[in-house]
Amino acid sequence: MYIYLLEILKYQQNLKNLVIAIDGPAASGKSTTSKLVAKDLGLLYVDTGAMYRAMTLKVLQSKIYIESEEEISHLAQNTNIRLEQNEDQVKVFLDNKDVSKAIRSQAVTKAVSAVSSIKKVREVMVREQRRMGERGGIVLDGRDIGTIVFPDADLKIFMIADVKERARRRQKDLEIEGENVDIERLVEEIIERDRKDSKRNISPLCKADDAIILDTSNLRITDQVEFIVKKAKEIIAKR
Ligand code: DC
Repeated sequence: MYIYLLEILKYQQNLKNLVIAIDGPAASGKSTTSKLVAKDLGLLYVDTGAMYRAMTLKVLQSKIYIESEEEISHLAQNTNIRLEQNEDQVKVFLDNKDVSKAIRSQAVTKAVSAVSSIKKVREVMVREQRRMGERGGIVLDGRDIGTIVFPDADLKIFMIADVKERARRRQKDLEIEGENVDIERLVEEIIERDRKDSKRNISPLCKADDAIILDTSNLRITDQVEFIVKKAKEIIAKR
């Protein structure tokens, strides 16, 4: 009995220290999956894309030219972005204002790759992401989590999916938000965003050598979640 209790405590301690990095291209299902994985394991979830989106919204609202690296760098150092996790929702606050919906607009989606390629913006965001994850017990999704933010993460997943399928998923999300966008246009936008995110000089989107590829083209969300949760539990069991 005593040993059994110790085992449970050890398991919980290991779970609390766990860092799970989930990277991948646009609309590959990272955030939906990560949120559910975090919920299942009782970990904190951080949507790092939402942070770059909030920063981009601020740039657009401030009417600064997207090419103006110096001004955007200055702005990034004077911006407060906060993520709040409720039961099933993650709310995003930009300078204390709830922008959870506004950051999903087409205007932000179009400009976000340019803003997130700026060195100072990345420095500010990565510093904050590392601070949130320093004690572990966290699932982060993004483009550079397994390569740059937490290169020593316990579990790294690289999610991919067929571009048509990704466009369909994005179209559904936009419909829920009341925006109707043509599927072909979304395919083009996703390809273009992936191209920019992969080709940038600083922390480009790429798979970490030790990341597991998870192709979600034909998977249900529950299967994706189950796969990652199982891997996480295997890691803890081995400790
Ligand atoms: O995951 P998402 O589509 O919400 O991300 C929006 C953009 O933010 C994405 O096109 C690139 C950028 N991003 C990044 O550069 N690094 C991250 N860790 C997460 C997102």
